[in-house]
Amino acid sequence: MTGRNDLSQPGEPGFLRGLSGKVLVMTILFVMLGEILIFLPSIASFRIQWLKGRIAQAEIAALAAEAAPDSILSPDLRTEILKGAGVLVVSLTRGETRKLMLRSETDHMIDASYDLREVSWPTAVADAFAVMLEPRDRVIGVTDKPPNMSGDMIEVALFEKPLREAMIRFGLNILLLSVVLSVIVAGLVYLALNIVLIRPMKRLTRNMMTFAQDPEDRSRIIVPSNRKDEIGIAERELHDMQSDLAAMLQQKSRLAALGLAVAKVSHDLRNMLSSAHVISDRLAMAQDPTVKRFAPKLIISLDRAISFLTATLKFGRADEPPPMRERLLLNDVAEEVIDTAVLQASTRIVLFNHVPPGLEVDADREHLNRVLTNLLRNAIQAVEQQGDEQDGRVTISAWREGAVAMIEVRDNGPGIPERVRPKLFEAFQSAAKPGGVGLGLAIAAELIRAHGGEIRLHATGPEGTAFHVVVPDAVVELRPGRRGARNRA
Ligand SMILES: Nc1ncnc2c1ncn2[C@@H]1O[C@H](COP(=O)(O)OP(=O)(O)OP(=O)(O)O)[C@@H](O)[C@H]1O
Ligand SMILES: [Mg+2]
Repeated sequence: MTGRNDLSQPGEPGFLRGLSGKVLVMTILFVMLGEILIFLPSIASFRIQWLKGRIAQAEIAALAAEAAPDSILSPDLRTEILKGAGVLVVSLTRGETRKLMLRSETDHMIDASYDLREVSWPTAVADAFAVMLEPRDRVIGVTDKPPNMSGDMIEVALFEKPLREAMIRFGLNILLLSVVLSVIVAGLVYLALNIVLIRPMKRLTRNMMTFAQDPEDRSRIIVPSNRKDEIGIAERELHDMQSDLAAMLQQKSRLAALGLAVAKVSHDLRNMLSSAHVISDRLAMAQDPTVKRFAPKLIISLDRAISFLTATLKFGRADEPPPMRERLLLNDVAEEVIDTAVLQASTRIVLFNHVPPGLEVDADREHLNRVLTNLLRNAIQAVEQQGDEQDGRVTISAWREGAVAMIEVRDNGPGIPERVRPKLFEAFQSAAKPGGVGLGLAIAAELIRAHGGEIRLHATGPEGTAFHVVVPDAVVELRPGRRGARNRA
């Protein structure tokens, strides 16, 4: 099997590549090896016992022949006796004399001879294999001590074929037994290992994979079992590690949120304080009657900065506090915003307030002020970037479309660079000019989204840019059941 098993889960190895398969294959191999180690001596000993059996029979046959009257046997009887003993020739040696006891009619050449009186194990094993691998039907001579003590040495000659056949039968039996045994043993070992080792390992692996998909999800942390062994230790270690990691990640996202909040605070604080700064510059000329005009604005600006900071710190997170909506005269708000912005713009930029005097917007005054300030600041910066050849114009106009107030901020600047357009409203993604952070539009869009509206880039190009701020009126909840409810109460 090469590729991954399609049925298995992604990330899990196929059966033969996984631990289970490896353990199964290894157990079968090792049991087989054990069987082979047992097989070698047993086949050698089988051969020796078989030959000794023949020798014992031959000795009895020889003694029987000797006991016959005058030691003379009829040829038929002799053949019968030799056949019964399974040998061709038997001779006995007593002291110095060697006596041929029985021999068959035909003559046979002895192909190999063996002495069973002193056999070492390696030779016995080698001889046994020689028998099984021998293609010819040999005649072998075998020497041994007579088992019935009828003399000092007995020698027989016999055909090897019956021995080979018996050995092959024995070998096949052992092979069959080995296969059955190895399947049983391998199955048992596999089962045991599976329960003790592989299943817990799989649980660990699966848990690691699911945890890795979402490390912040505390419900994915492993629940350690009560095992005392290495797996138990691994589970507990993993549990601790995952807990630490999850805690760390949560801490990190909290810090990231806090970082974003701080960036936003300092961003808009900069806008507010820069206006306060400009105004206080003017206040320095105390004799000037304009003090009367600017002093209240300074106070309002600073007030706004303070309440903004207080609100952000109170919420302590990246989200803006929910808008406190009221019906505002948009013309007033636009006037306020332009009044502050004009102090920061160069003299060749003219700011127009084209908002119809009676037009109302249902919005948070503070938020709307910040939104328009950001749009106006961007417009002024864009126009100023352009150089001196053209007078800059920035216009705020507005109209209503049913329950929706549409506000337009239009300039005659160079347009928004192509590359920042796709991520215009994403924090830190769109800064294209020196000193820009890329937060202004992101904040403005978020504030308007909280009103259920949106900021759209309406048009941009060499003739200028227009943003539309869409602010729908808040939905008034009608309560038709109120009177009935009071009656029931
Ligand atoms: N009216 C406009 N004309 C041309 N380019 C604009 C205009 N408004 C926005 N841009 C471009 O979009 C970018 C993103 O504006 P955004 O207000 O989000 O960030 P910023 O002005 O760069 O930084 P800051 O956070 O100080 O406002 C600007 O850098 C500018 O290149
Ligand atoms: Mg900006």
